[in-house]
Amino acid sequence: MQVKFIKDTLSLKGSIVFLCSEKAPFKGFLKTLNEKSKKSIEKAMKVSGFTAEKDSKLEILCPQGTNLDRIILFGLGNKKNTSLSTFESVGSSIVAFLNLKKISEATICMDNSYDISKNFINSPSHLAFGAILNTYRFNKYFSDKKKMRELNITKLNVMCENFEKEKNNWKSLLELAEGIFLTRTLVSEPANVLFPEELAKQAKKLTKYGIKVEVLDESKLKQLKMGALLGVAQGSKRKPYVVIMNWNGNKKSKECDVSFVGKGVTFDSGGISIKPSNGMEDMKWDMGGAAVVVGLMRAIAGRKAKINASAVIGLVENMPSGAAQRPGDVVTSMSGKTIEVINTDAEGRLVLADAVWLAQEKFKPKNIIDLATLTGAIIVALGMERAGLFCNNDNLAKAIEKSGDLVNEKLWRMPIDDSYDKDIGSDIADMKNVGSGRGAGSTAGAMFVKRFINDIPWAHIDIAGVTWSKKDAAMVPKGGTGYGVRMLNQLVIDYWENKTS
Ligand code: BES
Ligand code: ZN
Ligand code: ZN
Repeated sequence: MQVKFIKDTLSLKGSIVFLCSEKAPFKGFLKTLNEKSKKSIEKAMKVSGFTAEKDSKLEILCPQGTNLDRIILFGLGNKKNTSLSTFESVGSSIVAFLNLKKISEATICMDNSYDISKNFINSPSHLAFGAILNTYRFNKYFSDKKKMRELNITKLNVMCENFEKEKNNWKSLLELAEGIFLTRTLVSEPANVLFPEELAKQAKKLTKYGIKVEVLDESKLKQLKMGALLGVAQGSKRKPYVVIMNWNGNKKSKECDVSFVGKGVTFDSGGISIKPSNGMEDMKWDMGGAAVVVGLMRAIAGRKAKINASAVIGLVENMPSGAAQRPGDVVTSMSGKTIEVINTDAEGRLVLADAVWLAQEKFKPKNIIDLATLTGAIIVALGMERAGLFCNNDNLAKAIEKSGDLVNEKLWRMPIDDSYDKDIGSDIADMKNVGSGRGAGSTAGAMFVKRFINDIPWAHIDIAGVTWSKKDAAMVPKGGTGYGVRMLNQLVIDYWENKTS
């Protein structure tokens, strides 16, 4: 869908959406509408009882005194409880409505919501952002067109004041949307198509946005002694890869502000500790952490964020075979620390152990944030509503929670007290890859990763519950959600780019 911001002097045709506020549902409309048409709209509103309540709508076909196909009035509600996300959700509802009506082009006029939108800079661009998030489709595997989730709307014009400014803001939001879409697509691809080498290839494409991308193959990983990651990969015919990305957007500094690290298990069968077959297909999205990192890097480079951000994704397939790692094996990680692999299904932390170590060695980042679909236990604790946040630094944790609240990708902070650490002690190696007790499974995973973190602010985000959605929601169609891209993009803006100190 193409989005255009236009000023209010153009002559109107086709389908027009008027955004109306409860306080002034009919306050002028466009100068271009003549008295006759205004009267007919007023009458339609009266007859239907339209009051501009949030999400209420009124469609007037072939309105009198105009050459328009239709006018759709869309309610924005009242000022109370309004925020930029109100505009996003309204934008998304409008697209859903237009699409249902098979309308291919429409113009949204915001002048009539002026009493509300003037309080929100960028409300038109956020309206368009909500609209575009609703247009994501993953249709590529339908050979029957009828089965595809149609997208009829191809052009959306947004008529508003300050349209030049909105256009500028839109540029960044569009880059963000593209990043989110990239993550959704990577997550939705099946594992026979998206295996480690293919995901590495997709990441390599980010070169075109000015990101330095380096792909490390198996021989290089062996040279680096990434025994923890290689142990996970050894049962699969698919070769492991690690991709390193670097975005140098803050030319004033040579330091790396943050390194993002992602778990990229393109399929997690569990290995020899094999998973039950029921629901195993979900494990194609066990590379969700890596996908968020790729989409995020795409977004921040696309909008030329003033930050130095690096990234490492560890890409493996976890399979059982004659060559697979066995429960009880001991592996040596890149850090030199040894790990007794009690359960081959607790593989994500083994991948992260080497990936976070590499990120720290190579970039000496000031902060490190890893993302992983790490534990089923986080779904037990938080469901699909919030991701689990494990963080050794209160400032960073608060900033992450704030960003999540702002963009509606919420988190819940979980404990990582030192007292949990003894749970992963091993009798024959430096640590084991699962806890001894049955409780606090997600914390055990976090404590394991923590063993590989130097003395820097670190956040681990367990996204097992939020990476995939089985039901359609307004701005997130079912499938890969892209959760995390928006939240971390917001963190980049608020915690680094706009930091005053
Ligand atoms: N990839 C899984 C976690 C997962 C489960 C993600 C469900 C998304 C949905 C992870 O590798 C795993 O298998 N974790 C084990 C850890 C256990 C063996 C300590 C788990 O959660 O059961
Ligand atoms: Zn697993
Ligand atoms: Zn896994």
